Amino acid sequence: MELPDLFARYRTELDEYLRSALPQESPALLYRMMRYHLGWEDQQGRPLTEGAGKALRPTLCLWACQAMGGDWRTALPAAAALELAHNFSLVHDDIQDGDKERRHRPTVWSLWGQPQAINAGDSLLILGHLVMLRLEERDVAPAKVIEACRVLDEACLTMIKGQCLDIGFEGEREVSVEAYLDMIAKKTGALLGASLHLGALVAVDDEPTVSRFARCGHLLGLAFQIRDDILGVWGAADVTGKPVAADIRRRKKCLPVVYAMAVAQAKEREQLLRVYSQGTPSDEDVGTVLQLLDSHRAYDYCQQMAQERIEQALEELAPVDMESTARNELEAVAKFVLGREF
Ligand code: IPE
Ligand code: IPE
Ligand code: MG
Ligand code: MG
Repeated sequence: MELPDLFARYRTELDEYLRSALPQESPALLYRMMRYHLGWEDQQGRPLTEGAGKALRPTLCLWACQAMGGDWRTALPAAAALELAHNFSLVHDDIQDGDKERRHRPTVWSLWGQPQAINAGDSLLILGHLVMLRLEERDVAPAKVIEACRVLDEACLTMIKGQCLDIGFEGEREVSVEAYLDMIAKKTGALLGASLHLGALVAVDDEPTVSRFARCGHLLGLAFQIRDDILGVWGAADVTGKPVAADIRRRKKCLPVVYAMAVAQAKEREQLLRVYSQGTPSDEDVGTVLQLLDSHRAYDYCQQMAQERIEQALEELAPVDMESTARNELEAVAKFVLGREF
């Protein structure tokens, strides 16, 4: 499924703005790792045209600003800040998850080692915070700039709380659906919530409206992560850039498995717990788990969970006055989240 047209509208200026937030300084290695991770350069520092992420969070931020009647360019510093903070989380997440590939390319830590990748991740986050301050250059009132910084900081802290819970789950025998939902609300919901929140905040002064945008983004984030979990089990390897059933091989407590644990018969639960309590599962073990998920229609359950959250997300903005083009664009993003394959 292609990205909705909306993504193309902002892309060129967003990229330009992001580059202005990340000038080349010394030490060269630090900046090279960041540019590499952002997909601007290959490992040798040669320019790349493909390799960047989808830019979902900045796109949502700029869309929200425009949907509320603002000039979307005013929100560019916030959009860049979100994308940099998001990329910080990915650089660190790949270390935490031991993943050697992201976006079909070797991860920063797998090329330059974990100690230097931590430096690259930290710097991305800090550059994100610094670029947010440039809202002031776009005549955003100082009180709003401070509020925007607070929104980003809180979202980043919440995201790290989510990462802490997620990593903790790996050592737990069983995780409830409720605990899982709380974890993804933090790990993914927070930054997507901040994305719509910041775009609306820049455009309007009406707090209840801004809160609606924040809640809408949060719900979109839940659906986005649930779809990510679906892709981690059933996604096609050539599209996701990960091996088939990658999350089962890694014994992740992803939603399909959390759900299956909750509904499985005693014997099936034992099977699942056995696979999840040993080292790397064999292909046969992975097959057993996949069969078990199928027999409980785990795919349909997860997709339904995502669908419900998308509906709630759209409902949040139903009372908000906006042009029909803007509403259609949000619906296109919602549809993309539910059907995306990468
Ligand atoms: C990946 O996010 C991490 C999750 C929260 C699932 P994206 O899928 O938005 O990452 P990129 O930036 O487009 O690669
Ligand atoms: C993504 O989490 C990182 C954050 C949301 C901070 P995951 O580990 O679940 O996602 P991928 O599959 O590596 O992108
Ligand atoms: Mg990961
Ligand atoms: Mg992770």
